[in-house]
Amino acid sequence: MLKQQSIALLLIFLVLIGYTSAIDITIKVDELGLAFNPQNFTANKGDNIKWVMSHGKHIIQQSDSATSCKNSTQANAFYSGIVEKGGEYNYMVTQDSGTIYYCCAYSSHSLLGEFGIISIGVGPSTNTDNGISANSSGSHNEGNSIKGVAKIGIGVNVVVATAVAIGFLLI
Ligand SMILES: *[C@@H]1O[C@H](CO)[C@@H](O)[C@H](O)[C@H]1NC(C)=O
Ligand SMILES: *[C@@H]1O[C@H](CO)[C@@H](O)[C@H](O)[C@H]1NC(C)=O
Ligand SMILES: *[C@@H]1O[C@H](CO)[C@@H](O)[C@H](O)[C@H]1NC(C)=O
Repeated sequence: MLKQQSIALLLIFLVLIGYTSAIDITIKVDELGLAFNPQNFTANKGDNIKWVMSHGKHIIQQSDSATSCKNSTQANAFYSGIVEKGGEYNYMVTQDSGTIYYCCAYSSHSLLGEFGIISIGVGPSTNTDNGISANSSGSHNEGNSIKGVAKIGIGVNVVVATAVAIGFLLI
């Protein structure tokens, strides 16, 4: 009886670990020219991708290849509409695997290099709080280097420690 309860609790905590490991991935748009920074990155189901417009107007549009900026034919493809300077657009990853291509559909931005690639489920999510930006000396990154790692690390560790402690108490 007690063993069954502890196993059930451990399973619940394992599920919680899955939720706490989803992260925010911030993409800087047009920070140093018409480009996404980082351009190519890795994400996992449940991650929230946040595009932040540093300069000008942009349209974040899912496409079907890195060489053509046309609306994706996939169901539920994302499309931000025009987002002004200082605005942001968020998209939560809903797929377990595959490649998401996207581009800026505003004016001729995509032809000037404003396109990006997201690889889903091939490894740890890219941590943009951890100085991954091309300009890590820039003011936008100050004070973020430890925070991003700690956010995930502490979340998982606390959950694991609690699960193990409760498991031992009940056995
Ligand atoms: C991103 O991937 C595309 C297509 O493979 C490639 O052309 C581009 O150079 C990559 N960008 C970076 C910064 O590695
Ligand atoms: C792409 O899809 C969006 C959203 O469905 C739509 O508003 C936009 O007009 C489409 N663009 C083109 C070029 O068809
Ligand atoms: C990085 O940002 C700093 C401060 O904004 C700037 O002075 C520097 O020129 C940038 N470096 C590159 C490589 O763009």
